[in-house]
Amino acid sequence: MTAFPQFRLRRLRRTDSLRALVRENHVEVTDLVYPMFIVEGSDIRQEITSMPGVFRYSPDALVPEIEELAELKIPAVLLFGIPEHKNEVGSSAYHPEGVVQQAIRVFKKAVPELLVITDVCLCEYTSHGHCGILADGQVDNDQTLPLLAETAISHAEAGADMVAPSDMMDGRVKVIRESLDARGFQPIPILAYSAKYASAFYGPFREAAESTPQSGDRRAYQMDPPNVREALREVALDIAEGADIIMVKPALAYLDVIRQVRNVFNYPIAAYNVSGEYAMIKAAAQKGWLDEPAVVLETLTAIKRAGADIILTYHAKDVARWLNRKQGDTHELSTFPKALSGGPEVFTGRG
Ligand code: PBG
Repeated sequence: MTAFPQFRLRRLRRTDSLRALVRENHVEVTDLVYPMFIVEGSDIRQEITSMPGVFRYSPDALVPEIEELAELKIPAVLLFGIPEHKNEVGSSAYHPEGVVQQAIRVFKKAVPELLVITDVCLCEYTSHGHCGILADGQVDNDQTLPLLAETAISHAEAGADMVAPSDMMDGRVKVIRESLDARGFQPIPILAYSAKYASAFYGPFREAAESTPQSGDRRAYQMDPPNVREALREVALDIAEGADIIMVKPALAYLDVIRQVRNVFNYPIAAYNVSGEYAMIKAAAQKGWLDEPAVVLETLTAIKRAGADIILTYHAKDVARWLNRKQGDTHELSTFPKALSGGPEVFTGRG
């Protein structure tokens, strides 16, 4: 007797309360990390064309934004820097007065409890736009490692709470861990971009960060999109080298990778809902072709369902607004499922 008519799965779908009771996955504001672009200069607040609603800020223009993030209860940011000067070896990345180092201090002074995670990579700082330094036209792995370590240390010295290497050099987690420990930064965790693919979904980011490689591409260091067994090896190595949190990036076209990593490793998993994923939804929403809140929440829920614990997303502020509104609403047990079923009215006209 395991079939219709005794068994009716629709019984638990009948009302909001029933659906909320048996819901398996939830997106919460506490899951979110907001990536931000910090540009050298003063008084700059400049929208990124291919990422509507996302801005580049100079360090001195950050405070109102930081206060808004705190108000929205967003727990963490991920900082990217766009320096004034680029050179062959990306020295602005590890300069004590570099743009990210300045921004970290502004964050920590304004709202100390907001977690500041920093992207550790050279691509925004090198004149050639590659994530490591070049030798004979190739990105040289081992010569790059000490510069990444130096960058991580300078971020920690400026007050960063966590460092996130995104360069995909072999051995970087080990070198960064050892260097941090040697300098007394044992408590600083490493969020490793472990399975980072050579993806076309980074397009808008490269406009935002001015980090497009001047020649060639990143396929000799970022992962080949068809591979998933290799992702498990990348994750295993990063864990062995001391990663505290592992990341899969991008998220949407790689949900299967997130799931496989989840099945194998008992580590916190972060997924990066990248710039191209954001741009697609924004563009369709601007044309009125998609219901933005519903589609964003459905997308982030899918990333959680695939197995991620943490989501890095440019939608973070919007999502926090929608979800905080839901929380504050004591009369309705759950407005979230209505959002998922496409009722935009849920998000308007409520305090
Ligand atoms: C830098 C870096 C990139 C992203 C995060 N860190 C770009 C790249 O690897 O080319 C992409 C983020 C996004 O698209 O939102 N190495």
